[in-house]
Amino acid sequence: MLQRFIWTDELKVGVPTIDVQHKELVATVNDLAVSIEEGKGSSFLKKLLTFMKYYAEWHFEQEESCAAAHQCPAAEMNCKAHAEFVRLFEELQQQYRQDPANESLPEIIHKKLADWLVNHIMKVDKQIGRHICARQAAGSSIN
Ligand SMILES: [Fe+2]
Repeated sequence: MLQRFIWTDELKVGVPTIDVQHKELVATVNDLAVSIEEGKGSSFLKKLLTFMKYYAEWHFEQEESCAAAHQCPAAEMNCKAHAEFVRLFEELQQQYRQDPANESLPEIIHKKLADWLVNHIMKVDKQIGRHICARQAAGSSIN
């Protein structure tokens, strides 16, 4: 069975707008797992790759401006990781266009997204979230 994610505090960064957006990605990863197991992975990819293009652009922009506004020390590292992710997805999109029936691509993409949740969201984004929450807490205690 392919890895699925349950939305728990482990995934939450603590900033509601970012968490709502991450939750959407978690649902997409889970939907992809279901589609692959039902043998519909390739047809799901068309939808997923279009979604990811707009999602990544919109979500990364929001997260990056939030991190910059709060002067997060991890902001630059976050931007670099986002740029790499966008590049990776452009490559995957290209691979899909060349061979939409490629049977291994849905699983490769599932693995990349699952890795992103574990290694980016649970690490870098959480670091950003902690910084923002700490600043907000410090700010509200002054007021
Ligand atoms: Fe991020």
